Amino acid sequence: MKAVKIKDNVYWVGAVDWTLRNFHGYVTESGSTYNAYLITGEKNILIDTVKAHLFEEMSARIKTVIPLEKLDLLISNHVEMDHSGGIPELLKAVPGLKVLTSPQGVAGLKLHYGEELNCEPAPPGYKLDAGRYRFSFLPTPMVHWPDNMLTYLEEEKILFSNDAFGQHYASSGRFDDEVCLHKALAEAKKYYANIVLPYGKQVRDALAAASKLDIKTIAPSHGIIWRGQIPEILKRYGKWSAYENDGSACIVYDSMWHSTEKMARAAYAGFVRAGIKTRIFDLKCDHISNIMTDVMTAKYLAVGSPTLNNNMLPTAAAFLTYMKGLAPQGKTVFAFGSYGWGGQSVAQVEEIFKELKFETLLPGVRIKYIPGEEELKKIENAIYEKIKK
Ligand code: FEO
Repeated sequence: MKAVKIKDNVYWVGAVDWTLRNFHGYVTESGSTYNAYLITGEKNILIDTVKAHLFEEMSARIKTVIPLEKLDLLISNHVEMDHSGGIPELLKAVPGLKVLTSPQGVAGLKLHYGEELNCEPAPPGYKLDAGRYRFSFLPTPMVHWPDNMLTYLEEEKILFSNDAFGQHYASSGRFDDEVCLHKALAEAKKYYANIVLPYGKQVRDALAAASKLDIKTIAPSHGIIWRGQIPEILKRYGKWSAYENDGSACIVYDSMWHSTEKMARAAYAGFVRAGIKTRIFDLKCDHISNIMTDVMTAKYLAVGSPTLNNNMLPTAAAFLTYMKGLAPQGKTVFAFGSYGWGGQSVAQVEEIFKELKFETLLPGVRIKYIPGEEELKKIENAIYEKIKK
């Protein structure tokens, strides 16, 4: 349990959560880390803490550099408890420790930890002179809570970006050149798709503000620290926040007796025949957070559900509700499903497509009971004809 040196007097003192498998509904097969950072000097400053149950790990790492009671200030970039959860235990060791945070952070932290918390606001433009180090603060409201801010350490050109650029990715390596880069970027995409996606405009604003800074290290609050691949992660955030697609298709469905599944396969045949890179997701097998990672960058989205008790299947409703909250943009869509008598599911799927202002690829297709070969071929051909150049 040692601190990891990032630069002279700058250390990673966070915790690795190897066994985390669910982060409020987002499946985290790769675990996560909660990154806290220690800057030592005339003032000893901690940036963020960790989840409450991992306080001892953070504390042990800090103690390999300075005694805990030598801390002078906590900078809190974000109220959410994966970063602030260590505050109550920290205050037991350092009573009255001052907490510098955004104005919204002051209100949020007090609601979490009590009015007596010794908070000071860092309003936009505020700079902190801490002897040999100066810090500036960049408010990034709604990336992804109202209180979020970034902290920039001017002398070392380190941007402490909190959730931005993060990944739920537990590893022994702390830097982008110490892990599998493909994996780190894949986890960064999943993180963006499931946490940051609704806030494209705010991310673009934050990227514009950050582009004025000379950044040599991006130190997020989850996963690895970016030092060799900063242009790459910035480029990807630029594309994701602009809602760019890669031309691919996602087919997402559930099925009761394989009829809607057959329709999904027919749609797949149409997309693939038209030269579109396509993935099929069966909602019984694939978690909605993994599906959303691909949907985020897909151009086409086809969603299929049979009708059960006058409704789409609950699995399809869960996916669509989740997707609606994440508000992807610019999809071209198709709804389909089999039915026995009511047949309401396809219209219900299309209603959600309409709310998201998606463009219709083809009118929805409903098939009674079991689709015949001819009906399936019609789906394939219709998709192919619509897409082929
Ligand atoms: Fe990693 Fe929004 O907390």
